[in-house]
Formats: sequence, C-alpha cells, structure tokens
Amino acid sequence: MQTILILDHGSQYTQLIARKIREQNVYCEIHPYNKIPEITPDIKGVVLSGSPYSVTDSEAPHTDLSQFKGKVPVLGICYGAQYMIHLMGGKVEKSVIREYGRAKLVHVDNTCALLKGVELNSQVWMSHGDTILQMPDNCQVICSTENVANAGYKIKGEETYAIQFHPEVHHSQFGSQLLRNFVLDICRCDGSWTPANFVKSTVQSLKEQLKDDKVVLGLSGGVDSSVAAMLLHRAIGQNLTCIFVDNGLLRKNEFTEVLQSYQNMGLNVIGADAKQDFYKVLAGVTDPEQKRKAIGRTFIDVFDAQAGKLHDVKWLGQGTIYPDVIESSSVKGPSQTIKSHHNVGGLPDYMKLKLVEPLRLLFKDEVRKVGRELGLKDSLLKRHPFPGPGLAIRILGEVTPEKVAVLQEVDSIFINALKQSNLYDKVWQAGAILLPVQSVGVMGDERTYERVVALRAVESVDGMTADWCHLPYEFLADVSNKIINQVKGVNRVCYDISSKPPATIEWE
Ligand code: XMP
Repeated sequence: MQTILILDHGSQYTQLIARKIREQNVYCEIHPYNKIPEITPDIKGVVLSGSPYSVTDSEAPHTDLSQFKGKVPVLGICYGAQYMIHLMGGKVEKSVIREYGRAKLVHVDNTCALLKGVELNSQVWMSHGDTILQMPDNCQVICSTENVANAGYKIKGEETYAIQFHPEVHHSQFGSQLLRNFVLDICRCDGSWTPANFVKSTVQSLKEQLKDDKVVLGLSGGVDSSVAAMLLHRAIGQNLTCIFVDNGLLRKNEFTEVLQSYQNMGLNVIGADAKQDFYKVLAGVTDPEQKRKAIGRTFIDVFDAQAGKLHDVKWLGQGTIYPDVIESSSVKGPSQTIKSHHNVGGLPDYMKLKLVEPLRLLFKDEVRKVGRELGLKDSLLKRHPFPGPGLAIRILGEVTPEKVAVLQEVDSIFINALKQSNLYDKVWQAGAILLPVQSVGVMGDERTYERVVALRAVESVDGMTADWCHLPYEFLADVSNKIINQVKGVNRVCYDISSKPPATIEWE
C-alpha cells in the first residue's frame, strides 16, 4: 500500500499532519524519529514533523536522514526544516522574537512543485523559537514572510523540501494545497485510499488472517466497536460472535434499542443482562477510581463467563483506533493517567486469545466514514461519546438502581430535546449529572427538599480539550421545566459552564 511516513519529533501537531494527508486519500503512518521502519518501495515519501526542542538543545531529537533523504521525497516542517539546515552546515539560531501565529507570504515561487496554487499574500501559521538565518549553497529559497526570509526551501537536485510554517494547521490558508502537492505530485501517490478501498482490502486481509477461526468481540453501543464488528462480520460472517453487556449504567432503553439494531444488522449478538452484578459491586463505593475499577473487573468477569460458553474461539476482536496505537508508541510515551479509562482493558491472560483490531490504522472521523460505507445508520455513527463506566461516573457518590433510574429520565429528556432542536449534531458530547446534594424548592404550596441535577454539553475535537456549549437560554429554560415537571424527586437544574482544562468533561 502506498504510504507516507511521518517521523515524529514530538510536535503537538504531528497527528494533525497525518489527518491532513489522509484527507487527500493517501495513507500515512506516524513513527517516532528514532524508530525509522525499513524504507520499502511502498514508502513514497517522508515528512519530518516539528518539535518542542531547538536544534541547538543538547537533548534535541536526531533522525538518521541517510536512510531516506535523496532516495524518496522529503518534506521537513518547522523543526524538520531547521534540522536539515543545521546538519548541512547552515545557520539556525534562536529567533530574537519568538515567531508565533499568523504571517503572510510575501514571496512565493510558484514554479516550485510544492507551492503550486499557493497564493502570494496568503496566510501561514508560524510556531517556532528557532529560525534559519543562513542557508547552504545547495538550498534554494522558495517562499518568505515579512519576518522570515527563509520560510521555505528546496535542496537542489533532490526532491527534498522544507517549510518553517505549519501547513497542517487550519490557519495556514493553502496548507492543504501544499500537502496535496507534496503527496500527490511530488511523491506521486494515486490518492486511492478511500473508505471503499479500505473496506475491500481490510475484509480481504481479515479473511486471509482468520480463515475458519472463530472470533468474539465485546460491543459497547459506540461507533468503534460497532464498525469493527461490521468489518469482521463481512469477512467471517457467523464465525463472529458479539457480546453486548447490560451493566445497568446505560442510557434509558439503550440496551434494548441498540441490541435490536445490532440484530437488524445481521450480527450474531448475545445480550447479557448483568445489571445486578454491577449494582452489587458498586454498593457502598463512592470513590471515582474505585468505581471504574469495580466496573472494569465485573465487565471482564461477565464477558469471560459468556465467552467461556462459546467453543473453539481463537481471537478477540477489538475496536482499538489509531490514536490509542500512536499514544502507546509515541516519542513522549503513554500520557499521564488522570482518569483510568478502562475500556481498552483487555481480558485475563488465561483466555489466550489472539487480538484482531481491524481499525487500528484509523482516526475517529475515518472510522465514521468506513461505518457509513458499511451501511451503518446515522443514529449509531453520530452518537456522542459515552464513557465505559456509563452513568456510574455521572452519579456523584454511591450508585444505586434508584439513582440510575432518576438520572436516566433526566438524561433522556435532555438528549431528546437536543435532537428535537437540531442541536445534537452540533454538540460533541452531552449528558446529565446527579449531584449528591438536596435543595429546597416549592411546588404548588408545598416546600420540597429534593435532588439537584447538572446538565453538561461540550464542544471538542478529540475530548482532550473542550469548551462548554453556549446553548440558547430558551432551550435550557425549556429543558429545565420539563425535567422538574416530569422527573419525580428533582427540583433544581444547573448548567455546567466549565471548560476543559481546568475542569474535565465528566465530573468524576
Ligand atoms: P474527561 O472526563 O477525562 O473525559 O475529560 C474525556 C472523554 O473520555 C470519556 N471518559 C471515559 N471513557 N472510560 C471511558 O471509556 C472512562 O472511565 C472514562 N472517563 C471519561 C468522557 O466521557 C469523555 O468523552
């Protein structure tokens, strides 16, 4: 498969480079700068990412350019551009003023293949502390901004290009055009990595990998596990058994509805009602991490008991996606655990199952496109993310079946209202939280002393950062009225106006 290799030097934008290249229907992979894979004929070009380091730092990352430079086309971005100049004996120094933010291209060489169609005076995004002051003779300047004369260069006689700005960032006006020029014209990729081709080739390779073997997979109701199941189903049909566990912490009616839609999709799925098992281990537990651990353990027990009833299963299917894969092999290593997200937990060793992960090359938005290609309904594809421990981490304090029932009603009113007002798709994630306090109210002539709920709706790209949504006041007023009138035991509704950071999306 035609591949562009991205060597990561630790920049915050590396994943974005990959996404922008994939938007051109070209497949690419991110590898740490010091773990360069073999340069096979499939590798059509290499991109060197930016870095938080300066080339003059003693700990600056060093990539062995001899493995690919001059052999396949190369694009250096920011640190990548400065690093090559530094090695060739040019002058890279800390810039007097840190170059950060918007800049204008005041010189553009449109005869250069990289800059075809990039307009003069268009905007680019700068983010660097170093700058290239002097270039070696074999380098030719291809663009400049007001403050940065050597904003981009080409090495003469080689298909090696470099730019000090960030084409992957939205604020670089012709950034996508520049990356398209690189991958399609310079690297000569054919742009055939489409969802349809991905489905075709993945189904084919799953068939070859799994042959007549049996696979078991846990469905969560979310996009990733559903798409993974559909791909496996296409490849091996009834040799795939799915297990969907009712942990008693799902949304109102979710278990029955989602189970039904899985069955309609032709999946061979076992629905396991384990509500009581989960409520039992959660009794008396108030600490968020203890809740997560108890739920994680119980899920494995329930799944294990169900899977144990199947015969000759050799593989465990999982909906692992690319960000999880990069995260665990990144330059910086797995990021610090703030909350232990248990959903990639895995199974006990004694089950001795081999792992099959058909989505491990895809970003989330690509998973959705593949899902659409496989005919999954929008109601599944456009679902908001929902945490594995479900409502347990939205009930602050001890979880009881009675509190779950109250929260399910509140959540259902909120989510349905978002859908009815055409706001659901504009919000990245929404839900309700049951607070461990009671408040005084008055209903009719009577004083009440009842529960308080908070509503949360956020905008985000990947859940790493998030802003609270500015939902219309009329909408919030309407939802609040409905909740207080319809849900017994709730007399107050609040709206969470905290962003992440410093808050998190979930309250626990
Ligand atoms: P936070 O609260 O960390 O949430 O800002 C970021 C995203 O992760 C989800 N989340 C979880 N997902 N198991 C999961 O599978 C968990 O324990 C968990 N905790 C948070 C959260 O819903 C949001 O989408």
